[in-house]
Amino acid sequence: MAKPATVFVCTACGNVVPKWAGRCEACGEWNTLEPETPSPGQNDRRAVRAGIRGVDFVGLDGETPLPARVPTGIAEFDRVLGGGMVPASAILVGGDPGIGKSTLLLQAAARLAGSGSRVLYISGEESVAQIRLRADRLGLRGAPVHLAAATVLADILAALSAEKQARVVVIDSIQTIWDETIDSAPGTVTQVRANAFALIRAAKTQGFALMLVGHVTKEGALAGPRVMEHMVDVVLHFEGDRGHQFRILRGTKNRYGATDEIGVFEMTGRGLAEVANPSALFLAERHGHVAGSAVFAGLEGSRPVLMEVQALLASNPGGTARRSVIGWDAGRLSMLLAVLDSRCGVKLSAHDVYLNIAGGLRVSEPAADLAVAAALISAATGVPTDPECVFFGEIGLSGELRQVAQTDLRLKEAAKLGFERATLPRRVAGGARRAASPDGIMLSEFGHLSDLVA
Ligand code: TYD
Ligand code: MG
Repeated sequence: MAKPATVFVCTACGNVVPKWAGRCEACGEWNTLEPETPSPGQNDRRAVRAGIRGVDFVGLDGETPLPARVPTGIAEFDRVLGGGMVPASAILVGGDPGIGKSTLLLQAAARLAGSGSRVLYISGEESVAQIRLRADRLGLRGAPVHLAAATVLADILAALSAEKQARVVVIDSIQTIWDETIDSAPGTVTQVRANAFALIRAAKTQGFALMLVGHVTKEGALAGPRVMEHMVDVVLHFEGDRGHQFRILRGTKNRYGATDEIGVFEMTGRGLAEVANPSALFLAERHGHVAGSAVFAGLEGSRPVLMEVQALLASNPGGTARRSVIGWDAGRLSMLLAVLDSRCGVKLSAHDVYLNIAGGLRVSEPAADLAVAAALISAATGVPTDPECVFFGEIGLSGELRQVAQTDLRLKEAAKLGFERATLPRRVAGGARRAASPDGIMLSEFGHLSDLVA
């Protein structure tokens, strides 16, 4: 039999190409292609499988009991999972190194173990002594978690198959696990994929919930967890700015629930604390009466979140104007600047524009357009926006303001935090209009961005 040809796999997006290149043609990342040789077993399955059985087909209407979820006991975590972990499922928790993945999973493991589930915590990154030290700091020393430091896949699988009672197994991290039968280093795409596959299969056949930690790195030294995303049932990203205290757990894939929920945590000296009221946290450092700031009433999943949009303009006549954006889409900012320029006469082409969502949040909703525009107009005119007012609404290319989803929910959150006014797209035909919301918020409704500028 011919030797299987080596292919190259992108560690960032999983794209497979026959020839090495410096840049992945699919995702555009540099230096992410790694060689991979298909394992010899992959090509002679037919020889191995003598007794072929075929597959059985059934109807859609059969009875399948809903699996009872296992709540972690950490409400913010359970919210993102859609109510808790589903038995025999695999959850991938990805995030930058040092963001707090191990801390979060150790806290979840301790909660679960404390409520009577048998929880195995296998670390390939830290020694048992290090984990105990961390548990001490988190005040979790007494939790009946079963701890092990291991990296060899065969050892882990043997231990798991000897287990009958385990309900939850944590592997920290998948990049440290090593399958000795594969001829590449731990953390390479081949290793990560094979190990994840074996562990997920163990979870499915034995019925425990599997939590895998995966580091996201750009360097390509460790395989990005992207290559496993299609294998697992749930993908969660733990993100945040290491310079800030709070962290956001965001679901990007969930076979058992919605993917747009977020969980908000604060990193404290004693581990991660849940943040039940994120709006208050995100607005805590806001100074009213500063030009270039506006409060956006946003929505993360089913939950309204208020946050501050900050814009700064620096005069730059002659040179190429800079546009720097943190936490929002740069393309959307360019579009808004163009709309402000050609529909409202606000010329910013001779200015560098800096835009920031305060606190390190990332916003993807088009509803933020109006708050960004308000911050930009305020920065351009030097007039602070009303500090008691929230903004939300989408802006179209002709400068028209468009309705966004869940207006009432956003207004309710604003009222809860003591805001008195809101600026939003007009809800009935006609010109600008004033009204009061059921929560007592005074509404200023506009049809076109130029009305707001005026
Ligand atoms: P860690 O969970 O080790 O990150 P990851 O597993 O994602 O690599 O957490 C790393 C950081 O969290 C570490 O730099 C210190 C900080 N930290 C606290 O601030 N408080 C704590 O109680 C703990 C355990 C960690
Ligand atoms: Mg860790």
